[in-house]
Amino acid sequence: MNIGIIGYGSMGKMLLESFVRSENVTGGILIANRTREKIGHLSSMATVCGSNADLASRSDIIIMCVRPVDIRTVLEDIRDEIRPDAILISLNGSVSFGTIGKILRCKTCKVIPSLTAETGRSQTLVCHNDLMNDSDKETVKTLFECMGNVTVLPEDEMGMGSELVSCMPGFIASVFDVICDSAKKHTSIPEEQIVSMVLNTLCATGELMIDKGMTFEEVVDRVATKGGITEEGTKVIYEKFPAISDELFEKTLEKRRLTARKAEEAFG
Ligand SMILES: NC(=O)c1ccc[n+]([C@@H]2O[C@H](COP(=O)([O-])OP(=O)(O)OC[C@H]3O[C@@H](n4cnc5c(N)ncnc54)[C@H](OP(=O)(O)O)[C@@H]3O)[C@@H](O)[C@H]2O)c1
Repeated sequence: MNIGIIGYGSMGKMLLESFVRSENVTGGILIANRTREKIGHLSSMATVCGSNADLASRSDIIIMCVRPVDIRTVLEDIRDEIRPDAILISLNGSVSFGTIGKILRCKTCKVIPSLTAETGRSQTLVCHNDLMNDSDKETVKTLFECMGNVTVLPEDEMGMGSELVSCMPGFIASVFDVICDSAKKHTSIPEEQIVSMVLNTLCATGELMIDKGMTFEEVVDRVATKGGITEEGTKVIYEKFPAISDELFEKTLEKRRLTARKAEEAFG
């Protein structure tokens, strides 16, 4: 099974590197990019294609790793060359199946990877259009499992799903950036050590919860004994943080709706 990647930017590069490392990818990998000079050096990892049409004619799965404004051009490039049974994957959450289908109606998926894919333990979101059969769905799942866990969502939940997966590394990093900054004001421990201690504890807490099947509440219960020191801190978080968290999702989901509208307009 040949996998074609269109676009060698941040996502195209990450996918190419993951697929090259993956045992699940046994066929060829093909790559095309608007600026060809950027992919000339990749010939030891992938078949470098001269055009999107050439890539489409030789691929069983075609992954569009381009910005929304460029999706229409790519669809027009490939629509006469795509194999009848090929699966088209868009990495963009904002352009709908309906809009893509106006130019090219074929088996189509949207896949939202996370930056954490580079660790092989990430969470990838997938949604399928109505032409995808069970075997196609399994093929896509197996392909992206090289990056970690794969979750399937309906198209109308991909926005919130993206907040929880694709944006979450940024949310987590900013929350702990604030916590480390605050800790600095109360100690002479060097910043590097503070960050390292918090980061190791953060990773270990996640692993503990996943390995032992613990809930957030159970972790809080185990650490914050009644009347103890931790409870003083968790009380502040449960009192003050819900308002911030609500505002965060209200703002990001509104921005997502606006971005989707602009993406559809840019698509033409
Ligand atoms: N970055 C993330 O964390 C992330 C996460 C999830 C989903 N996504 C989605 O993934 C998509 C790609 O994002 P990105 O961050 O990888 O973008 P990017 O870094 O800007 O890369 C886009 C690539 O697409 C190429 N391209 C543009 N038009 C093309 C065409 N007609 N034919 C072939 N190649 C073309 C560009 O080529 P040039 O070299 O000529 O510019 C560039 O290499 C976006 O839709 C984004 O919403 C991104």
